[in-house]
Amino acid sequence: MTDSSKSAATAPASSMWGGRFAGGPAAIMQRINASIDFDKRLYAQDIRGSKAHCRMLVKQGILTQADGDSILAGLDQVLAEIEAGAFPFSMALEDIHMNVESRLAELIGEAAGRLHTARSRNDQVATDFRLWVRDAIDGMEKALQDLQRALVARAEEHAATVMPGFTHLQAAQPVTMGHHLMAYVEMIGRDRGRLSDARARLNESPLGSAALAGTSFPVDRHFTATELGFDRPMNNSLDGVSDRDFALEFMSAAAICAVHLSRLAEELVIWTSAQFRFVKLSDAFTTGSSIMPQKRNPDAAELIRAKTGRVIGDLNALLIVMKGLPLAYSKDMQDDKEPVFEVADTMELAIAAMTGMIADMNVNTDVLAGAAGAGFTTATDIADWCVRELKMPFRRAHHVAGSLVKLAEDKGCDLQDLSLAEMQAIEPGITEQARAVLSVESSVASRTSFGGTAPDNVRAQVAAAKTRWL
Ligand code: ARG
Repeated sequence: MTDSSKSAATAPASSMWGGRFAGGPAAIMQRINASIDFDKRLYAQDIRGSKAHCRMLVKQGILTQADGDSILAGLDQVLAEIEAGAFPFSMALEDIHMNVESRLAELIGEAAGRLHTARSRNDQVATDFRLWVRDAIDGMEKALQDLQRALVARAEEHAATVMPGFTHLQAAQPVTMGHHLMAYVEMIGRDRGRLSDARARLNESPLGSAALAGTSFPVDRHFTATELGFDRPMNNSLDGVSDRDFALEFMSAAAICAVHLSRLAEELVIWTSAQFRFVKLSDAFTTGSSIMPQKRNPDAAELIRAKTGRVIGDLNALLIVMKGLPLAYSKDMQDDKEPVFEVADTMELAIAAMTGMIADMNVNTDVLAGAAGAGFTTATDIADWCVRELKMPFRRAHHVAGSLVKLAEDKGCDLQDLSLAEMQAIEPGITEQARAVLSVESSVASRTSFGGTAPDNVRAQVAAAKTRWL
């Protein structure tokens, strides 16, 4: 922003809509009104939409073939200029739509003014933005598939690697690392499902809704919808120009996904700590401390956790923009773009960083094996044994196991270290065979219920995930 543009001086009236305006906008009006700084990201979609509209106008006899040809060629040149970084974006021209059209007029003259027949910036921007969000959804879904691929590979490798499973972050029952990682593959799978659901609902064309009421020109909205890869035109022109639920759905799906990534990031922070040492990240995904030479900080995981706040905030921002708007278009809706762009950019970075960390992490199987049994994590197994072999009601078996834990706790040993005699003093029915269920390997191997943690089940989950998601 130059100093002169901040002054109170007024600019000339807009060449696009300034017909009945004697004076131009105040500099501050121009600044608050202009969106070109951010909506230039819609240039490709804007030009694509204009070309489809132009072809339709020619096909319907609304534009001559000659004008149509010159508009199409001119739009291609504008696209080339923008892509070459040679396009002089102008704040006076407010937004991407008028920047493109004004340059088109410089290039091809009067015919450029015919492109906006049977169209308004309201349906134009709604179309551009749907196309942009559709691409963002496709990109995000692909990135999530890469993350699933990384998780599945590590899960397969660690299908039988025992570790403690937690509830309340207290050691609960042994599980396998493969099982734990596959839980995230499932979450990411549902994130992808939400994105594709949103995409299907988004994929209708607002083009031809015009300003709000539709148009008196004999347009073919089905044609433009097909040209732009939409499934059909939107049914209602007021709805077409005034809803942004597609952007909200994208951001909602992204926010839920960001929460999943944040939980995994939090686990990496915990797991890499000196107190846990479950996994180690390499130099590629850690930073050092300027004062403490021993530090290896999991910054990428922390930042993924932090960026979740932005994504949720951006979703909130647009929900609040939309909540009080009467139909149809209001300029408030110009503020829909930055939150969506930020969400798309943030998710791209966060998903890629998470994929990198998952592939990078070194799993300390020895530490995990030691931790898997700590905290009497097989107490449920001895209770289950009493139910199975002694036909004890589970509530009583729970009591027996509790007494065994208390004894081990008092003696400062593990459950496996109690002698048979000590165990029988608590429950005479206990045999040597019961002691065998106390190992973590036998504990995880016994969890063979569908979706359970037994290594063979984890391998089955991996196989199913490969077919379904990869
Ligand atoms: N830049 C505007 C936006 O993003 C384009 C639509 C402007 N429409 C209008 N009636 N002023 O929303």
